[in-house]
Amino acid sequence: MRILFVSSEAYPLIKTGGLADVSGSLPAAIRELGVDIRILLPGYPVVLQKLHGKRQIAQLYGLPEVGSINLLLGKMPDTDVEVMVIENGRLFNRPGGPYNDSYGNDWDDNALRFGILSKVAAVLSSQDSPLQDWIPDVVHCNDWQSGLTPAFLHYSDTAHAKSMISIHNLAFQGNFPPEWVQRLGLPDHSYQMHGLEYYGKMSFLKAGIYYADSITTVSPTYAREIQTEQYGFGMQGLLATRSHEIYGILNGIETQEWNPATDPYLAKTYNIEHLADKKIVKKALQVQLGLEATPHKPLLGVVSRLTHQKGLDIFLSVAERLLARHCQIAVLGNGETQMENGFRELARRHPHQVSVTIGYKEPLSHQIMAGSDMFIMPSRFEPCGLNQMYGLRYGTPPIVTRTGGLADSVQDSNTATMKNNTATGFVLESADSRQLLSVVERALVYYQDPRAWRKIQRNGMRRDLSWTNSAKAYLDLYQTLARR
Ligand code: ADP
Ligand code: GLC
Repeated sequence: MRILFVSSEAYPLIKTGGLADVSGSLPAAIRELGVDIRILLPGYPVVLQKLHGKRQIAQLYGLPEVGSINLLLGKMPDTDVEVMVIENGRLFNRPGGPYNDSYGNDWDDNALRFGILSKVAAVLSSQDSPLQDWIPDVVHCNDWQSGLTPAFLHYSDTAHAKSMISIHNLAFQGNFPPEWVQRLGLPDHSYQMHGLEYYGKMSFLKAGIYYADSITTVSPTYAREIQTEQYGFGMQGLLATRSHEIYGILNGIETQEWNPATDPYLAKTYNIEHLADKKIVKKALQVQLGLEATPHKPLLGVVSRLTHQKGLDIFLSVAERLLARHCQIAVLGNGETQMENGFRELARRHPHQVSVTIGYKEPLSHQIMAGSDMFIMPSRFEPCGLNQMYGLRYGTPPIVTRTGGLADSVQDSNTATMKNNTATGFVLESADSRQLLSVVERALVYYQDPRAWRKIQRNGMRRDLSWTNSAKAYLDLYQTLARR
């Protein structure tokens, strides 16, 4: 079986968020199961730089607006998973991020850039692909950036692969002016309600949801939630009609990369048997961030995009009250200007109790995950969320909302779950400040009891968060699709 895994980012080549973590680690886990899987990525400068042993394997002609692209084949730096990369200077050779320039504005040709990504994936999934010795049985698309692939395949006479789309976040839809239907070479009649029209725009994500043979979401709870008005971002109706084709598969994490026993970024590594060493990491973090270096004050950690989704404005609104209860706060993140400024201001008022780092820093994200006592993630919605799982693995009990993948990965601590050893963190029923305050206060009560706290930490550290089970679920789905 051959699988083409299409994504707009994959760690460690390029990362802006959880999609990269998944696109880096899931294909590796699927390859472990004996499947011939290749990733397809846009050739951003860093990707071309970091790709191992790259060589050109094909040229594709006749693509909308850009004419031709080079297709390169190389390997992931650490896992040896094969990666195909689209090389085209006009589309991808520029400074800035994958989706926006250095000021945070979306590139104005994103419809073309990801339209071509989608189109190339479709061509490679067809009988007349230029790679005749490697035609996939299933093309696995991820998020809106490859959402047009199933549409291109639907309107092709030579389609070979079955298509599947994984929804990592329904809030990002890739909606563009309708002129792009023609410009990308899709038939005019595809632009309708039963097609890729979405409130007067052409929608990449809707195209994926409408035309893919199968749909997955990154957690079982999110699969249910997106079929409701509250979480459906306008697509709940369409999703409900495809209900029987939607599968929720909880993400795993890369357990080598995220392992407190071997993590090279930590002042001291530790494990479930030597939890006392975690205090050394906490002290090093406090010193590094200029916080009062005391073991007694509970340190609340945040590593996140600072956006409405993540609910950190709620955290900000109760922060002063938590500081009054002698908590310390360490934040790493970037995003909405107002939230960035709010956190900066908090740190300015409490320099020894609050540290705020605005930016994107891989090492510090590991250090906060390990050095904090609790991890704060009061998301308004969360398709899966990886940070709460990193928290579990690092003995840093997460405080999360009961939504999406947070609901599926964190078990609230109470009398019953303490007794049967399933307590792993603390769960808010809804993302609001009253709830957050009372749940953190409840967590602080457990924190004051070292034996109870160690139990919660150990329960979390013992959880199997690896990809093993979820990769098998994807494989089952690939096999079912390929047999159809
Ligand atoms: P999302 O993809 O919605 O942002 P996830 O929890 O799935 O949320 O994944 C976020 C990923 O990005 C994690 O690997 C997290 O450690 C990382 N991350 C987020 N913000 C930062 C940051 N400012 N610096 C370093 N890593 C970050
Ligand atoms: C998205 C979601 C996040 C999920 C990640 C990987 O970024 O916001 O919840 O963990 O994708 O699937």
